[in-house]
Amino acid sequence: MSGTGIGWGKLILCGEHAVVYGHPAIAFAVDLSTRVTLTRRPGPTAVAGCPSDARLTAALHEVLEPTGWGVRLDSTLPIGKGMGSSAALAVALVRARAELEGRSLDADQTYAQAMPCERVFHGNPSGLDVAVSARGGCIRFTRGTPPTLQPLTPGRWRVVVLDTGAAGDTAELVAGVAARRPGVEPVLQAIGALVERCCGHLDDARALGPLLTENHRLLGKLGVSTPELDDLVALALDAGALGAKLAGAGGGGVALALVDDTAGADAVLAAAERAGVPALACRPAGVPS
Ligand code: PMV
Repeated sequence: MSGTGIGWGKLILCGEHAVVYGHPAIAFAVDLSTRVTLTRRPGPTAVAGCPSDARLTAALHEVLEPTGWGVRLDSTLPIGKGMGSSAALAVALVRARAELEGRSLDADQTYAQAMPCERVFHGNPSGLDVAVSARGGCIRFTRGTPPTLQPLTPGRWRVVVLDTGAAGDTAELVAGVAARRPGVEPVLQAIGALVERCCGHLDDARALGPLLTENHRLLGKLGVSTPELDDLVALALDAGALGAKLAGAGGGGVALALVDDTAGADAVLAAAERAGVPALACRPAGVPS
């Protein structure tokens, strides 16, 4: 007997880091995910499908007893790249256990049960990644117990994800921003205000793009961008993207470029290929295309 659960990956359109301090953020699920398959087995809980480390073991133990489980992980998500791999794992894990035990979980229950696991990875997560991973689609999120969620309908734009090739440590980056408070408070406020403006332009990529580029500039002021991320943003804008920014905690990971159609995506993908940058095009998952 086995139980299987899936968690979506995500991209943050606008508002990362400020969301930790109660400002709103917009994020959407992408068509990349983590699948967990659980079986019962005698002896210590054993993991297959990815290298096990102390943090993964501690995270698994938030949901599973230290003995008696076989855990198989299959993921199409890059790890540590700002695409929500740890939240997808947490969501997939609680869903797999529920399926194995014949329980059904709604999105709120999934969120509540997955958050302790996400805390092991991130220390002080806003909950944004887990909320998007559990629900899919595109949401406006404000931290809270429970968080405030508003489903959003994005326009027909798409994004190109450009990979620095380096991983960022979300817990470290979030702690770094915390250490720079209260000096960075005005920057966090400005990011929150930008998110409100993005909500009004979600169906208009030409208006949305410059707001995302401004978000990147503010994330630079927060100290979470890197020269490599700045270069990817410049590459995307030079190739005709309507806007571009780092996505996720920063310190490495990915940048996203906003384009309004396939031709726009192809132009950014071609520029990325010429520069030897791994890239992929995607749309918000779970919304009409
Ligand atoms: O890098 P990711 O995918 O783990 O995203 C982190 C987003 C932050 O806003 C920086 C942290 C959070 O908990 O919301």
